[in-house]
Amino acid sequence: MHKGKGMKFVGDSRISAERKPNIPKDYSEYPGRTEAFWPNFLLKEWLAGAVFLVGFLSLTLAHPSPLEGMADPTDAAYIPLPDWYFLFLYELLKYEFASGDFILLGMLVLPGLGFGALLLAPFLDNGPGRRPHQRPVAVGMMLLGLVSVIWLTYTSASHVDWESRAEANKPIPQAEVTIDTEHPGFASYENSCLACHGNELEGGAGPALVGMDLSAEEIADIAVNGIGSMPADQFTGTDEELEQLVDFIIAVNESAE
Ligand code: HEC
Repeated sequence: MHKGKGMKFVGDSRISAERKPNIPKDYSEYPGRTEAFWPNFLLKEWLAGAVFLVGFLSLTLAHPSPLEGMADPTDAAYIPLPDWYFLFLYELLKYEFASGDFILLGMLVLPGLGFGALLLAPFLDNGPGRRPHQRPVAVGMMLLGLVSVIWLTYTSASHVDWESRAEANKPIPQAEVTIDTEHPGFASYENSCLACHGNELEGGAGPALVGMDLSAEEIADIAVNGIGSMPADQFTGTDEELEQLVDFIIAVNESAE
């Protein structure tokens, strides 16, 4: 047998032929951009990102975003409106070429083209120049997009009567109530009703129990037999406890007046 004869060498792409020492690349061939991506550039990016994130978090804590008034299922005239940054898409759907039979055009195709074009940005005008006039196609498309978004947003906003809208959406002021936790009926309320009607009878899964137009008998009946979407048998104590529970609810209602 001839040693070494007929032996095959197999290449493994995971092992590089030449061992490179672990020193940063020489960036002098890229004038003006002589910074290593890792870790110098990335660290700076992360730092800037962290500063913005903390800034935004502080801002949301200091100025929580305002909510509109409670949703009113009986108000059929209410027109839901997207937030301002989506108004342009909303406005687009009002045009004939983007609604009705062509709704897919307005919902998917046009916005899809617009956002899809963002993916093309790196491939348009990819010459070395970075000044706007050296990248006419990319800059032109960007300007066109920007102008359409601003114009659509402006047109949409000008159709809305903001004043009456703000008036209709004012949060309903919460009634000041006194909760007497020493009241003999409080324990029953806490055990059987609080989960749905709230700590201060302000409502939650069920409606508020302050400002109702119900008699003591009606409240007692609802507590036992339920009403509408409120299941029956929420209250299962003695008659005396039921009386105390109703008395508690009425006492809270009286404290609100
Ligand atoms: C599982 C959640 C739930 C629990 C627990 C519950 N409720 Fe309700 N309650 C509701 C819902 C939902 C409604 C609205 C029913 C409707 O109008 O369809 C309601 C309505 C009411 C109403 C009528 C309010 C109005 O303005 O007409 C009263 C009174 C009431 N509940 C009392 C009670 C009492 C007292 C208890 C405790 C014994 C209780 N509820 C426990 C869900 C609950």
